[in-house]
Amino acid sequence: MSASVTGAQAPLIEVRASPLHGLGVFAARRIPRGTRVIEYRGERVSHAEADRRYVHKDAGDNHTFLFIVDERTVIDAGVDGNEARFVNHSCEPNCESVIENQRVYIDAIRTIEPGEELTYDYQIKREADDPPDIDAIFACRCGVQGCRGSMLWPPPRAPRSRSQGRRSRRR
Ligand SMILES: C[S@@+](CC[C@H](N)C(=O)[O-])C[C@H]1O[C@@H](n2cnc3c(N)ncnc32)[C@H](O)[C@@H]1O
Ligand SMILES: [Zn+2]
Repeated sequence: MSASVTGAQAPLIEVRASPLHGLGVFAARRIPRGTRVIEYRGERVSHAEADRRYVHKDAGDNHTFLFIVDERTVIDAGVDGNEARFVNHSCEPNCESVIENQRVYIDAIRTIEPGEELTYDYQIKREADDPPDIDAIFACRCGVQGCRGSMLWPPPRAPRSRSQGRRSRRR
């Protein structure tokens, strides 16, 4: 599977098995810093609808294709999603998620060499009713030296600070 954002040029990214988790997205050619790589597409639903869809999900299942756009809208990339739904999380990412005009994009924050896996920091939102083992359920396997061990934000026992596009999950 591959996607091109430049028409006649060779595809910028490709989807294949990842050492981080399942499928991942990899640079098929050099991606300069600042490149808008791909839009995160999928069905746009309300938070209530996202809750309804995944209410029966196992409590220990951390897999999600949901992305919070704002207080009204969640993108469910499990429905009509594109390759962007396979971009994995890293605590030291080479991309970031950017929300503009209620659309979500994945932008390169540094130059990415061919073959490198694309990642961004999911900053999955903590919720009031999270169980005590929530960081274990959402354990990060990015493997970088500074890995915070969790895909959630804020990290365990750290002060709340930066705010960006956030992932969501429903159990
Ligand atoms: C949007 S999907 C990414 C694509 C996923 N690899 C797949 O094959 O469907 C998000 C899910 O991938 C897994 N994932 C992504 N990055 C991860 C990481 N660094 N450590 C552990 N699991 C990760 C989690 O289950 C997360 O909910
Ligand atoms: Zn990590």
